[in-house]
Parts: sequence; structure tokens; C-alpha cells
Amino acid sequence: MTNQTERNELSSILKRSKDRFEDYLENVYRVFQKESAPELADAMEYSLRAGGKRLRPILAFASFGKIDEDSLCIGAALEFVHTYSLIHDDLPSMDDDDFRRGKPSLHKQFSEATAILAGDALQAYAFDWLTKIRSSDPNLHKDLVSLLAKGAGAQGMVSGQMYDLLLERNPSSLQGTKEELLSLTHRLKTGALIQASFLMGNRLRSDYKIRSATIAEYGAKLGLLFQITDDILDIEGTKEDLGKTPGKDGKSGKITYPSLYGMDVCKRMVSELVSELEGLGSELDLPSSETGNSEFADFFKSLPSNIGKRKN
Ligand code: IPE
Ligand code: IPE
Ligand code: MG
Ligand code: MG
Ligand code: MG
Repeated sequence: MTNQTERNELSSILKRSKDRFEDYLENVYRVFQKESAPELADAMEYSLRAGGKRLRPILAFASFGKIDEDSLCIGAALEFVHTYSLIHDDLPSMDDDDFRRGKPSLHKQFSEATAILAGDALQAYAFDWLTKIRSSDPNLHKDLVSLLAKGAGAQGMVSGQMYDLLLERNPSSLQGTKEELLSLTHRLKTGALIQASFLMGNRLRSDYKIRSATIAEYGAKLGLLFQITDDILDIEGTKEDLGKTPGKDGKSGKITYPSLYGMDVCKRMVSELVSELEGLGSELDLPSSETGNSEFADFFKSLPSNIGKRKN
């Protein structure tokens, strides 16, 4: 294998980007510690430091085409929102999960009230972090705030979480078939923030307008693929690989892709989505001449099968 192929292999791109982002997080923890009530800073740091794949920041880096101070700010904003969503998702009144990212959930390690407050604070910090972006484009900050708010809030993730809980607890309050409602839930609770990650990274590019429709379609489909594989892993994954408790969906009677369609159909849906995404991905991959480096050159084409086969 040549050095170039090795550099561009998706697993090494993911690893290098994750390491770079985690170095950046060290500065973030210092800011948290300086600016926040000590228990709150410790709680935010606990959940962020626990790990995770850092997928959303990496999607933003790849969509921009490089990692720099501005794309790191976007990555941090996305990881703050995502981590807050996991902290709240695990609360006893939501999924009631004791284990996350290989450690006790935040409400187990600290307290339920601290977990609620740490989530609140991370969400506000996400928007504060966008103000640190130094670009002089007069519309950039406004557009990024709007993209993040739409991915994270009532137009996206939070409504998805609401549908998720209602589908489990009070499905008769909802209109539509189970199939329609589950697809809507997955697109919102997971797809919206993943789509926003791509769109926010793309917004840093000068040719962002030309790419945004295809990026949006790719992001929405990848988000759906990501949550279908999350549902599969809840059945087939191990606690060691996942860092969270498998079998939770079945125990709580959640409607998921495997519970509604059966595992075989569900896996066929995964491979169909992977093929569709590979087609879109080849339109989005950037020649290295455009990015100034070849770091993310084959990213969009190689990501879907990696997500389709993921173990964590
Ligand atoms: C878990 O997200 C929650 C979902 C949206 C399915 P990830 O699987 O990206 O979690 P981390 O960040 O790697 O812990
Ligand atoms: C979570 O979906 C989506 C979020 C917005 C946090 P899940 O409830 O399936 O995520 P896990 O399995 O707990 O990570
Ligand atoms: Mg949930
Ligand atoms: Mg959950
Ligand atoms: Mg899950």
C-alpha cells in the first residue's frame, strides 16, 4: 500500500481527525473550568471526555475539506449539542440508561439535576462557540446559527426525541402509519443534526451554494442510515463495543427498524442506503486541487459502507 493510499484510508482519516479534535477539546475544558460553576464544568467535561466517535465534528471537517480553527469551532458546537442530547436522552424520564461512552451516565455519576443543567449549559455554549469563528463573511455566523438551531431544536432533534417518546408511550396521539412515524422520528432525532454537520462545514466553503442541495440529501440519508444501524446494534452489539447498554430498545418496547421490519429487511435497507449514498458521495468528493490538500479526498464515497458495517 502506498503512503498516499494509507493516508486516505477512511479509518486513518477518522483517527487523525478525532485526535486533532480531542487535542482542541483540551482548550475547551480550560474555558469551561474558568467560566462555569465548578460542578457544572466538571460534569460537562466528564461527558465530553468520556469519548465517542466525534462523528459530527468529522463530518463538518470533511464537508469543508480541512481542519482549521474555524472548522474546529463548528466541530465543537456540534459535539456540545450532540453530547447534551445524549446526557438528556439517558435521563430516567427519557431512556433511563445507566451507561454511556463506556462510563456511568452523567446522572449516575453526578445527579439528575446536574445532568439537566450540564445539558442546558452545553447547548448554550454551542452557540457561543460559533461566535469565535473569525471569518469576515458578513452572513456566515447568521447562517451557521440558523443551521445549528434547525438541526438541534424543534425543527430537528428535539422534535425527533418527542416523536420517539410518543411512539413508545402514547402512539395513538400521533397521526400516520407506524412506518411513516418511525422514518420521521429517525430523520429528525438523528438525521437532522448529522445533516446540519455537513451543511455547517460546507458553509465555510466559497462554493457552498452549488454543493448544498446534494450535501443536504447525502446528510439526511446518512443520518437515517446511522440511526438504523444504531437500532441494529442495540440488538447485535456488545456493551464493550458500544460503551452503552445493548438491549434497551427491546426492554422499553421501543418501535425500531428491526422491531417493525425484521432484521433481514432492515439489513437490506442498510445495503440499499449504502449504495445510494455511494452514488451521491462520488459527486461530492473533492479533487485535492480544490481543498489544497488530499486529506478528505475520498471521504464521501467511503463513509457509507463504514457506517453500514459499524460495530460502535
Ligand atoms: C448515539 O450517537 C446517539 C445516536 C444519535 C444514535 P453516536 O453513536 O454518534 O454516539 P457517540 O458520540 O459515538 O458516543
Ligand atoms: C438517540 O437515539 C438520539 C438522540 C438524539 C440522542 P437513541 O436513544 O437510540 O440513542 P442511544 O442508543 O441511547 O445512543
Ligand atoms: Mg432515545
Ligand atoms: Mg437512548
Ligand atoms: Mg439507540
